[in-house]
Amino acid sequence: MDFIDRKIMEYVINNSEDEPELLKELAKETYQKILQPRMLSGHPQGRILSILSKLIRPKRILEIGTYTGYGTICLAEGLTDDGKIITIDKNEEIIDFQNKYFEKSGYREKIIQLNGEALDIIETLSDKFDIVFLDADKENYIEYYKSISNKLVKGGILISDNVLWSGKVLEETSNDLETNILKRFNRLLKNDKKFETIIIPIRDGVSISRLI
Ligand SMILES: C[S@@+](CC[C@H](N)C(=O)[O-])C[C@H]1O[C@@H](n2cnc3c(N)ncnc32)[C@H](O)[C@@H]1O
Repeated sequence: MDFIDRKIMEYVINNSEDEPELLKELAKETYQKILQPRMLSGHPQGRILSILSKLIRPKRILEIGTYTGYGTICLAEGLTDDGKIITIDKNEEIIDFQNKYFEKSGYREKIIQLNGEALDIIETLSDKFDIVFLDADKENYIEYYKSISNKLVKGGILISDNVLWSGKVLEETSNDLETNILKRFNRLLKNDKKFETIIIPIRDGVSISRLI
């Protein structure tokens, strides 16, 4: 589902920062070789991640759901000189693919890949984060919200992907677990006075929640 008129989106893309060549290459190879390539953040969303990161200049970022590393590289663009991004994924089959692009990106030393169940790994992390990018299994979004709420610094942001779930969040009743979880997740953040949240209707819906 397109939330924004296609011609408007084309105009937006043509008048926004170009997609870096390395990310074009990464996206192309993901579409050629990896299952479910639509999971990749892609050009406009990637540039939003990049500019948010550059505005915040984070020391620590946590990404939940690495996939082929597109979002990781976009977020790494804003890290401070001594900054680090921890990125978690349970799929070990794509680690070589990620490494190839992390090496080429120039951010290799700043990226820490952790392989396994994200909820288990998050529990073990002692860092506090300036940015958390939530982009893994939707069934666990509420558990992720609980587990990262005390891991953000004051003023830190939670960026959550797929919050409009192809528009299914509009359904009043649904038998689909992920739709119901995402509806609850969006209400939880809206009602959580510790955060100010805005949903941006780009791609599959991205929300930005700032810890006050
Ligand atoms: C939508 S993709 C991430 C896209 C990536 N952030 C980007 O910007 O291109 C979701 C990833 O989450 C991973 N994932 C799903 N459930 C997970 C879990 N419970 N623990 C760890 N990783 C998980 C999947 O293996 C997949 O690679």
